[in-house]
Amino acid sequence: QAQAPLRGHKVVITAGGTLERIDPVRYISNDSTGKMGFALAKAAQQLGAEVVLIAANTSLPSPAGVQMIRLESAQEMYEAVQEHWSNTGILIMAAAVADYRPKKAADRKIKKAGDTLTLELVKNIDILETMGQQKSSQFMIGFAAETDDLEQYAMDKLKRKNCDLLIANDVTREGAGFGTDTNIVHIYDRNGLVEAMPMMSKDQLGLYILELAAQRLEEYKS
Ligand code: PMT
Repeated sequence: QAQAPLRGHKVVITAGGTLERIDPVRYISNDSTGKMGFALAKAAQQLGAEVVLIAANTSLPSPAGVQMIRLESAQEMYEAVQEHWSNTGILIMAAAVADYRPKKAADRKIKKAGDTLTLELVKNIDILETMGQQKSSQFMIGFAAETDDLEQYAMDKLKRKNCDLLIANDVTREGAGFGTDTNIVHIYDRNGLVEAMPMMSKDQLGLYILELAAQRLEEYKS
């Protein structure tokens, strides 16, 4: 039990930045590489969980012993999360999900024409918020990438999206956030700050977060 506190639990983790098509060769995306989500997946697997890793737009290799789902868009990610939802024990949304997508993805490459081109965007579903509304026994961990007022935005997201933990990275700090092998985060729960973490590798942080989740799950049961 000590080495495998998540045995018998299914952990679903999202990673990467969703890719929203403009046409067959162009898209809108963001700087997420998937490193944080993949580190979490490896940690969950090490702690004995059954792991489903749902990744958008990343070239990272699939971690051993993990069920891998590769896809592109926020809508596809939402459907994959839904499909696994009924027996999910822990959901961790480390993906950077695009808030908007082009209203229409063109079937053919858009040709160069006038001096300006207007793209109309429509809102994507908020996956974490939607799952938060459907939550029964699932333990939910959200992420937040912020540039200012970390605590206020983090607590607002945690409550609005009905999360059990929220991991906030200040993406203005060197060694934190998108693309780096390290991260610097503050961890929040419903009562506020749980811990302000020093800079650590995403692998170490992944293990810390999963151990904390395992401990909290144990407390809920008792
Ligand atoms: O992949 P890396 O290069 O390692 O970078 C890691 C990271 C910086 C991407 C990661 O640590 C991180 O912070 N991920 C969340 C980034 C983000 O988009 O945060 P947000 O504040 O936009 O969203 C808040 C939460 O809601 C997130 O858990 C997000 O997955 C979720 N969300 C957001 C929008 C949406 N439509 N659906 C969602 O589920």
